[in-house]
Amino acid sequence: MGGLTRNTPWDDQAPGGWLRKHLFSIKTLSLIVLSVQTSTMVLLLRYSRTAPTSNQTPYIITTAVLLSEILKLGLSLGFLHIETGKVLRVTLHRLYRDVLLNVWETLKLAVPACLYVVQNNLLFIALSNLDAATYQVTYQLKILTTAIFSWVILGKHLSPIHWLSLCFLMLGVSLVQVDTGSSSTSPNKILPEVEVVEGGDPMILGGSEDGAGFPPPDIHNEAHPNTEVSWLLGIFAVFISCISSGFSGVYFERLVKRGKQPSLIIRNIQLGMFSIIFAIIAVSSDGAAIREGGFFQGYTLTTWGVVLIQAFGGLMVSVTMKYADNILKGFATSLSIVMSTLVSWLVLGDAAPSTQFVFGASIVIASTVLYGLTPQASKGINQGNQQPRTDSPHKVLRGTKSPSEIV
Ligand code: C5P
Repeated sequence: MGGLTRNTPWDDQAPGGWLRKHLFSIKTLSLIVLSVQTSTMVLLLRYSRTAPTSNQTPYIITTAVLLSEILKLGLSLGFLHIETGKVLRVTLHRLYRDVLLNVWETLKLAVPACLYVVQNNLLFIALSNLDAATYQVTYQLKILTTAIFSWVILGKHLSPIHWLSLCFLMLGVSLVQVDTGSSSTSPNKILPEVEVVEGGDPMILGGSEDGAGFPPPDIHNEAHPNTEVSWLLGIFAVFISCISSGFSGVYFERLVKRGKQPSLIIRNIQLGMFSIIFAIIAVSSDGAAIREGGFFQGYTLTTWGVVLIQAFGGLMVSVTMKYADNILKGFATSLSIVMSTLVSWLVLGDAAPSTQFVFGASIVIASTVLYGLTPQASKGINQGNQQPRTDSPHKVLRGTKSPSEIV
């Protein structure tokens, strides 16, 4: 059998084997897709909130959130059905056995579901009280809280080079975002938007071209009457969100890497059930508006696109948590900030990035590469599912790894 794998492109020894193995691993692909997804989401959401339409009523965010949660759960159920060989009886049995009977394991997901909802609401408060750049820069703190929780909860020991790359990442992102924020008067510039979509990275950019809506005033200018109190409230909200983001992410990572139920599909179903409950509670707070204008008021094709990409993004986040890790996820989303700014320049015709942006972006990219290429100092977490070798299609076909283990 050795002869079967020795000369495959997946083999390290084969020409181009290393490249293929690393480039096409689920880990790398999920990080790339997450970066692209976050950038697309940023641009589409911005467009969905700012594009002039004949329909003047904006859609209600909580309804879009609920729909994306329902879609996520629906997709997860669909994946489970495919995994069980499309036999309805088997699918229902898996749900009964792994979700209903396994109450304790299911209940564990109420924790991140609840925290994600609280986090998204806190970030809403943050964006109401902080200017764009401050919000984004401070929210990058979540990369550090994630690293700390990975160390505490997963026992993941980072080498000094890892910590150094994390610090450089924060520096790079800060340079990029301060630059983006400082030039936020540009009409086409992507500005942070208040709308926080639960189930996705709430650091959603967007902006109102006429200056309406969120672009919160600069914290240092007098537009904000009670600047100091607002600023403190905003910073406090971001700070708590960073802790919540780091904890929830690592908590979920632990469940899918070390928990009794490692199936990502089942975990997403469990999380989705609770998220829908919390999303319904959020929708009920918009009850009056919904009764007046209907659930789907203000919906356009773009809104549906946002719902779709948002749901897909949530699933991608979970895949990166399982096959990569939360820290790498932080790097991927940081890269997406660079990407979305570049796309808004190249595609939307925004002003060309400044030298500071280029400098910051280079630091982000260099720190990402440095972190990614530095081997783990100690493997505190179960790295088995990163399966650099076992994701060889030959091995899967030979049955050393069942397809269900891959998802
Ligand atoms: O900002 P942060 O990285 O913490 O955001 C992660 C987002 O990913 C959360 O809003 C959460 O709802 C979403 N998520 C998901 N499915 C998972 C894990 C996280 O939709 N399994």
